[in-house]
Amino acid sequence: MSSSELKLPDYREQAPAVAARFQRIRERPVILSVRDLKKSFGVNGATHIVFDNVSLNIHRREFVCVVGPSGCGKSTLARIVAGLDEASGGEILLDGQAVAGPGSDRGMVFQGYTLFPWLTVRRNVMFGLQMHGKDVNTAEAEAREWLDMVGLAKFENSYPHELSGGMKQRVAIARALANNPRILIMDEPFAALDAQTRCQMQGYLMQIWKKVDVTILFITHDLDEAALLADRILVMGTNPGRVVEFIENPVPRPRSPDQFISPEFLALKKRLEEHIHPPMEMEAAEKLPMIKLTEAGDEVE
Ligand SMILES: Nc1ncnc2c1ncn2[C@@H]1O[C@H](COP(=O)(O)OP(=O)(O)O)[C@@H](O)[C@H]1O
Ligand SMILES: [Mg+2]
Repeated sequence: MSSSELKLPDYREQAPAVAARFQRIRERPVILSVRDLKKSFGVNGATHIVFDNVSLNIHRREFVCVVGPSGCGKSTLARIVAGLDEASGGEILLDGQAVAGPGSDRGMVFQGYTLFPWLTVRRNVMFGLQMHGKDVNTAEAEAREWLDMVGLAKFENSYPHELSGGMKQRVAIARALANNPRILIMDEPFAALDAQTRCQMQGYLMQIWKKVDVTILFITHDLDEAALLADRILVMGTNPGRVVEFIENPVPRPRSPDQFISPEFLALKKRLEEHIHPPMEMEAAEKLPMIKLTEAGDEVE
């Protein structure tokens, strides 16, 4: 059977349990509200618009993934929400309050490893707690709890260089969550990990999210990752960056990689693929000029 014969459901079709779950999510308070956000840069006297008119609401304990082609402004959006960059227009409200600059109400985990190499794992997690005025004993006890949560209690006295990439990211998650953020912003946190570790980390993150009262804004270019993790998926387009669609993920929870071949998963993935790799692009690629003609018989199919 060719793939064109494969009959997939509409990606908007939701089983009753999934529809009921989205109904419950919509009834929860809005934690993050982004309104008409715009970001532009001056480049050689001209204005380059990164994105324009980006608006979205994220509800409490919702897991939102952001996907979109490279350069559409995903990281810029994450940095502005985190308060690390300034918007050129629009506003961001967290719990109804305008966001201005970084704050402990937002935790951030990046792709690159950002632990302090000269501090032990425990001290890395304690750092923010002590910065916010907690005494050493309290900070130490809380850091241990968070390290336990990410399965690294045994490594509290290790230094970052002694850990694998996945373990470093688990410490980074513990460190971000220790400050009790309202929202955890993750910019391609698993992109540098090998496929197997990435899969484990996705499992860890789902477990942690179940136990902690936190809302997650997760940027990724991996469509499988978005379909596995997200409640809703914000699809961004490029030139200029903008919101193309905000999709309610039809895949039921609890999730597991076994669902990668379920009809809902495939229908969603197909929709995401259409956005990220539109057919026009494929046609254009086929029309690329032949740069070097090979010997007869070298043709590939
Ligand atoms: N400081 C900056 N000055 C000028 N242009 C920038 C700056 N930061 C990002 N950009 C531009 O903004 C666009 C979006 O970047 P980014 O948010 O990193 O995209 P993504 O994460 O989706 O790949 C890119 O075209 C990038 O060149
Ligand atoms: Mg990026």
